[in-house]
Amino acid sequence: GSSDIDSKNFRVKLVLLGDSGVGKSCIVLRFVRGQFDPTSKVTVGASFLSQTLALEDSTTVKFEIWDTAGQERYAALAPLYYRGAGAAIVVYDITSPESFNKAQYWVKELQKHGGPDMIMALVGNKADLHENRIVSSQEAQEYAEKNSMFFIETSAKTADNINQLFEEIAKRLP
Ligand code: GTP
Ligand code: MG
Repeated sequence: GSSDIDSKNFRVKLVLLGDSGVGKSCIVLRFVRGQFDPTSKVTVGASFLSQTLALEDSTTVKFEIWDTAGQERYAALAPLYYRGAGAAIVVYDITSPESFNKAQYWVKELQKHGGPDMIMALVGNKADLHENRIVSSQEAQEYAEKNSMFFIETSAKTADNINQLFEEIAKRLP
């Protein structure tokens, strides 16, 4: 509804997973602070940020965001962050087929051990580097459909589709 009386406030725990260097922390920084840091440091363990998004119908969604570390040595920590999460963003880099393989690993892990109602997004980041693209949009889209995820390509650098990513998640909340 559009009146204040109907407005609702939701809260969702969201986790980002994906290979080191795909741009998870940059996506979060872009969404939360509207900035891009080309010298972004690798994440150690995980970091937490929150951001509230207001939707057109005056609903607000507070995202409690766990930005995990993609380096292999931290892989065993991931369940601490995805357990109980209402939404997961699995990120790869469109110029890196290895990172797309790693994304598929995380999708399987979430299917096995994540909650049954978890909203899952597959995100091809660094879309600004389209001249070096190796992972095709079509291949990723098909993979996402097969796994009941939604798919979007983003650029944390140019901000392309970053807000749309979080809006799409918000729209799918129960
Ligand atoms: P871990 O913390 O190790 O898991 O890595 P991460 O996924 O958090 O990567 P991070 O956000 O730190 O970004 C890694 C590198 O990619 C940095 O040098 C960023 O500047 C660069 N980067 C991130 N997003 C983009 C993007 O959309 N486009 C371009 N061109 N570079 C990006
Ligand atoms: Mg990081």
